[in-house]
Amino acid sequence: MAATPRPLIAGNWKMNGLKSAGLREVKKLATRMDKVSKPGCDVLICPPATLLAPLRDAVKGSGIAIGGQDCHGNAAGAHTGDIAAAMLKDIGCGYVIVGHSERRADYGENDRMVRAKAVAAHGAGLRAIICVGETAAERKNGETLKIIGKQLTDSLPKNSTAKNTIIAYEPVWAIGTGLTPTVDDVKEVHAYLRSRLRRRLKADGVAMRLLYGGSVKGSNAAELMAVDNVNGALVGGASLTAADFWPIVETCL
Ligand code: PGA
Repeated sequence: MAATPRPLIAGNWKMNGLKSAGLREVKKLATRMDKVSKPGCDVLICPPATLLAPLRDAVKGSGIAIGGQDCHGNAAGAHTGDIAAAMLKDIGCGYVIVGHSERRADYGENDRMVRAKAVAAHGAGLRAIICVGETAAERKNGETLKIIGKQLTDSLPKNSTAKNTIIAYEPVWAIGTGLTPTVDDVKEVHAYLRSRLRRRLKADGVAMRLLYGGSVKGSNAAELMAVDNVNGALVGGASLTAADFWPIVETCL
Protein backbone atom coordinates (compact mmCIF):
# COMPACT_ATOMS: atom_id res chain seq x y z
CA MET A 1 0.00 0.00 0.00
CA ALA A 2 1.26 3.47 -0.85
CA ALA A 3 2.23 5.57 2.16
CA THR A 4 -0.36 8.17 3.16
CA PRO A 5 0.86 11.65 2.28
CA ARG A 6 2.29 13.50 5.26
CA PRO A 7 -0.24 16.15 6.29
CA LEU A 8 0.45 19.84 5.88
CA ILE A 9 -1.28 22.47 7.98
CA ALA A 10 -0.79 25.81 6.24
CA GLY A 11 -1.80 29.24 7.48
CA ASN A 12 -2.56 31.97 4.95
CA TRP A 13 -2.51 35.33 6.70
CA LYS A 14 -3.65 37.16 3.55
CA MET A 15 -3.33 40.96 3.96
CA ASN A 16 -3.25 40.79 7.73
CA GLY A 17 -0.50 41.29 10.26
CA LEU A 18 1.93 43.96 11.41
CA LYS A 19 5.33 43.09 12.76
CA SER A 20 4.73 43.12 16.49
CA ALA A 21 1.55 41.01 16.49
CA GLY A 22 2.84 38.71 13.76
CA LEU A 23 6.06 38.01 15.63
CA ARG A 24 4.22 37.50 18.90
CA GLU A 25 1.86 34.92 17.42
CA VAL A 26 4.47 33.03 15.45
CA LYS A 27 6.79 32.86 18.47
CA LYS A 28 3.96 31.29 20.46
CA LEU A 29 3.54 28.70 17.72
CA ALA A 30 7.27 28.03 17.58
CA THR A 31 7.38 27.51 21.35
CA ARG A 32 4.59 24.94 21.10
CA MET A 33 6.21 23.19 18.14
CA ASP A 34 9.50 22.99 20.05
CA LYS A 35 7.77 20.81 22.63
CA VAL A 36 6.68 18.26 20.00
CA SER A 37 9.46 15.76 19.53
CA LYS A 38 8.29 14.15 16.29
CA PRO A 39 5.51 16.15 14.60
CA GLY A 40 3.26 14.02 12.42
CA CYS A 41 2.66 16.89 10.02
CA ASP A 42 4.37 19.84 8.37
CA VAL A 43 3.38 23.33 9.52
CA LEU A 44 3.58 26.38 7.28
CA ILE A 45 2.81 30.07 7.70
CA CYS A 46 2.33 32.29 4.65
CA PRO A 47 2.45 35.85 5.99
CA PRO A 48 2.33 39.06 3.98
CA ALA A 49 5.62 39.60 2.11
CA THR A 50 6.65 42.32 4.57
CA LEU A 51 6.81 39.75 7.37
CA LEU A 52 8.64 36.95 5.58
CA ALA A 53 12.10 37.87 6.87
CA PRO A 54 11.21 38.56 10.52
CA LEU A 55 9.02 35.47 10.72
CA ARG A 56 11.71 33.33 9.10
CA ASP A 57 14.06 34.37 11.89
CA ALA A 58 11.45 33.88 14.58
CA VAL A 59 10.61 30.29 13.61
CA LYS A 60 14.20 29.17 13.08
CA GLY A 61 14.79 25.70 14.53
CA SER A 62 11.09 25.07 15.27
CA GLY A 63 10.37 23.13 12.08
CA ILE A 64 7.72 25.68 11.03
CA ALA A 65 8.14 26.65 7.37
CA ILE A 66 7.52 30.05 5.80
CA GLY A 67 5.89 30.59 2.42
CA GLY A 68 4.67 33.25 0.02
CA GLN A 69 1.03 33.97 -0.85
CA ASP A 70 1.69 34.50 -4.56
CA CYS A 71 4.50 34.84 -7.08
CA HIS A 72 4.81 36.13 -10.64
CA GLY A 73 4.88 33.75 -13.60
CA ASN A 74 8.08 35.32 -14.92
CA ALA A 75 11.49 34.85 -13.37
CA ALA A 76 12.27 38.60 -13.22
CA GLY A 77 11.57 41.85 -15.00
CA ALA A 78 9.41 44.94 -15.20
CA HIS A 79 6.45 43.89 -13.04
CA THR A 80 5.92 46.61 -10.48
CA GLY A 81 4.71 45.33 -7.14
CA ASP A 82 5.18 41.67 -7.94
CA ILE A 83 7.44 39.10 -6.34
CA ALA A 84 9.44 36.47 -8.20
CA ALA A 85 9.55 32.89 -6.96
CA ALA A 86 13.35 33.10 -6.72
CA MET A 87 12.98 36.07 -4.35
CA LEU A 88 10.76 34.00 -2.07
CA LYS A 89 13.26 31.16 -2.16
CA ASP A 90 16.08 33.60 -1.53
CA ILE A 91 14.48 34.87 1.65
CA GLY A 92 13.90 31.39 3.03
CA CYS A 93 10.49 30.29 1.74
CA GLY A 94 9.82 26.65 1.02
CA TYR A 95 6.35 27.08 -0.44
CA VAL A 96 4.17 29.52 -2.33
CA ILE A 97 0.39 29.61 -2.73
CA VAL A 98 -0.75 30.15 -6.33
CA GLY A 99 -4.20 30.58 -7.79
CA HIS A 100 -5.98 31.47 -4.57
CA SER A 101 -9.57 32.35 -5.42
CA GLU A 102 -9.09 35.86 -4.04
CA ARG A 103 -6.35 36.46 -6.61
CA ARG A 104 -8.42 34.82 -9.32
CA ALA A 105 -11.30 37.18 -8.43
CA ASP A 106 -9.35 40.36 -7.58
CA TYR A 107 -6.83 40.22 -10.42
CA GLY A 108 -8.51 38.05 -13.02
CA GLU A 109 -5.91 35.31 -12.70
CA ASN A 110 -6.87 32.41 -14.91
CA ASP A 111 -5.66 28.81 -15.04
CA ARG A 112 -2.99 29.61 -17.62
CA MET A 113 -1.51 32.30 -15.36
CA VAL A 114 -1.74 30.06 -12.34
CA ARG A 115 0.12 27.33 -14.21
CA ALA A 116 2.85 29.82 -15.17
CA LYS A 117 3.18 30.79 -11.51
CA ALA A 118 3.44 27.14 -10.49
CA VAL A 119 6.08 26.54 -13.17
CA ALA A 120 8.00 29.57 -11.86
CA ALA A 121 7.71 28.24 -8.31
CA HIS A 122 9.05 24.84 -9.35
CA GLY A 123 11.86 26.49 -11.26
CA ALA A 124 12.92 28.35 -8.13
CA GLY A 125 12.80 25.19 -6.02
CA LEU A 126 9.58 26.05 -4.19
CA ARG A 127 6.62 23.80 -3.53
CA ALA A 128 3.54 25.27 -5.22
CA ILE A 129 0.21 25.09 -3.40
CA ILE A 130 -2.26 25.28 -6.28
CA CYS A 131 -5.78 26.33 -5.24
CA VAL A 132 -8.97 25.18 -6.95
CA GLY A 133 -12.59 25.59 -5.96
CA GLU A 134 -16.11 26.27 -7.17
CA THR A 135 -18.32 29.27 -6.50
CA ALA A 136 -21.70 29.00 -4.77
CA ALA A 137 -23.48 29.36 -8.12
CA GLU A 138 -21.39 26.61 -9.70
CA ARG A 139 -22.16 24.26 -6.84
CA LYS A 140 -25.84 25.10 -7.06
CA ASN A 141 -25.78 24.25 -10.77
CA GLY A 142 -24.17 20.89 -10.09
CA GLU A 143 -20.95 21.93 -11.82
CA THR A 144 -18.54 21.46 -8.93
CA LEU A 145 -16.57 18.51 -10.28
CA LYS A 146 -16.52 19.89 -13.82
CA ILE A 147 -15.11 23.24 -12.65
CA ILE A 148 -12.56 21.70 -10.34
CA GLY A 149 -11.50 19.16 -12.95
CA LYS A 150 -10.88 21.91 -15.48
CA GLN A 151 -8.98 24.07 -13.00
CA LEU A 152 -6.81 21.10 -12.08
CA THR A 153 -6.09 20.11 -15.67
CA ASP A 154 -5.25 23.64 -16.76
CA SER A 155 -3.40 24.90 -13.66
CA LEU A 156 -1.15 21.92 -12.99
CA PRO A 157 2.24 22.04 -14.74
CA LYS A 158 3.46 19.00 -16.64
CA ASN A 159 6.45 18.44 -14.37
CA SER A 160 4.38 18.37 -11.18
CA THR A 161 5.38 15.80 -8.61
CA ALA A 162 4.21 14.87 -5.13
CA LYS A 163 7.25 16.73 -3.83
CA ASN A 164 6.90 20.03 -5.66
CA THR A 165 3.11 20.43 -5.72
CA ILE A 166 0.22 20.46 -3.28
CA ILE A 167 -3.41 20.91 -4.29
CA ALA A 168 -5.77 22.90 -2.07
CA TYR A 169 -9.50 22.45 -2.57
CA GLU A 170 -11.14 25.66 -1.40
CA PRO A 171 -14.82 26.14 -2.23
CA VAL A 172 -15.06 29.90 -2.83
CA TRP A 173 -18.30 30.12 -0.87
CA ALA A 174 -16.67 28.55 2.19
CA ILE A 175 -13.78 31.02 2.41
CA GLY A 176 -14.15 33.43 5.30
CA THR A 177 -17.88 32.74 5.60
CA GLY A 178 -18.01 30.21 8.43
CA LEU A 179 -19.73 27.83 6.02
CA THR A 180 -18.17 24.47 5.19
CA PRO A 181 -19.22 21.71 2.82
CA THR A 182 -20.46 18.50 4.42
CA VAL A 183 -17.95 15.79 5.10
CA ASP A 184 -19.51 13.81 2.24
CA ASP A 185 -19.07 16.72 -0.17
CA VAL A 186 -15.41 17.12 0.79
CA LYS A 187 -14.94 13.38 0.42
CA GLU A 188 -16.46 13.40 -3.05
CA VAL A 189 -14.31 16.28 -4.32
CA HIS A 190 -11.08 14.92 -2.82
CA ALA A 191 -11.75 11.44 -4.22
CA TYR A 192 -12.31 13.04 -7.62
CA LEU A 193 -9.09 15.07 -7.39
CA ARG A 194 -7.20 11.96 -6.31
CA SER A 195 -8.49 9.87 -9.20
CA ARG A 196 -7.61 12.55 -11.75
CA LEU A 197 -4.16 13.03 -10.25
CA ARG A 198 -3.55 9.28 -10.17
CA ARG A 199 -4.49 9.00 -13.81
CA ARG A 200 -2.28 11.89 -14.83
CA LEU A 201 0.74 11.52 -12.54
CA LYS A 202 0.61 7.84 -11.50
CA ALA A 203 2.47 7.29 -8.18
CA ASP A 204 3.01 11.02 -7.74
CA GLY A 205 -0.72 11.56 -8.03
CA VAL A 206 -1.30 9.07 -5.24
CA ALA A 207 1.33 10.68 -3.01
CA MET A 208 0.44 14.33 -3.70
CA ARG A 209 -1.00 16.19 -0.73
CA LEU A 210 -4.59 17.42 -1.04
CA LEU A 211 -5.54 20.15 1.40
CA TYR A 212 -9.01 21.29 2.29
CA GLY A 213 -9.50 25.03 2.87
CA GLY A 214 -12.47 27.27 3.71
CA SER A 215 -13.58 28.12 7.26
CA VAL A 216 -11.39 25.49 8.91
CA LYS A 217 -11.26 26.10 12.66
CA GLY A 218 -10.47 24.26 15.85
CA SER A 219 -14.02 23.02 16.21
CA ASN A 220 -14.30 21.38 12.76
CA ALA A 221 -10.68 20.52 11.94
CA ALA A 222 -10.62 17.00 13.36
CA GLU A 223 -13.72 16.01 11.40
CA LEU A 224 -12.39 17.50 8.15
CA MET A 225 -8.88 16.11 8.56
CA ALA A 226 -10.31 12.62 9.04
CA VAL A 227 -11.94 12.62 5.58
CA ASP A 228 -10.37 10.23 3.03
CA ASN A 229 -7.82 11.95 0.81
CA VAL A 230 -7.68 15.07 2.97
CA ASN A 231 -4.00 15.50 3.79
CA GLY A 232 -4.11 18.77 5.66
CA ALA A 233 -5.64 22.21 5.65
CA LEU A 234 -5.18 25.67 4.22
CA VAL A 235 -6.39 28.01 6.93
CA GLY A 236 -7.13 31.72 6.63
CA GLY A 237 -8.80 33.54 9.51
CA ALA A 238 -8.05 30.89 12.11
CA SER A 239 -4.32 30.99 11.36
CA LEU A 240 -3.85 34.57 12.57
CA THR A 241 -3.41 33.74 16.24
CA ALA A 242 -1.59 30.85 17.85
CA ALA A 243 -4.62 30.26 20.07
CA ASP A 244 -6.83 29.59 17.04
CA PHE A 245 -4.26 27.88 14.83
CA TRP A 246 -2.68 25.49 17.30
CA PRO A 247 -5.82 23.34 17.88
CA ILE A 248 -5.93 22.80 14.08
CA VAL A 249 -2.26 21.82 13.98
CA GLU A 250 -2.83 19.49 16.90
CA THR A 251 -5.36 17.42 14.96
CA CYS A 252 -2.48 16.20 12.76
CA LEU A 253 0.39 16.06 15.26
P1 PGA B 1 -10.65 30.98 5.75
O1 PGA B 1 -9.73 31.17 4.45
O2 PGA B 1 -10.01 29.88 6.58
O3 PGA B 1 -10.61 32.32 6.44
O4 PGA B 1 -12.00 30.60 5.28
C1 PGA B 1 -9.18 30.06 3.82
C2 PGA B 1 -8.33 30.48 2.66
O5 PGA B 1 -8.72 31.41 1.92
O6 PGA B 1 -7.25 29.92 2.43
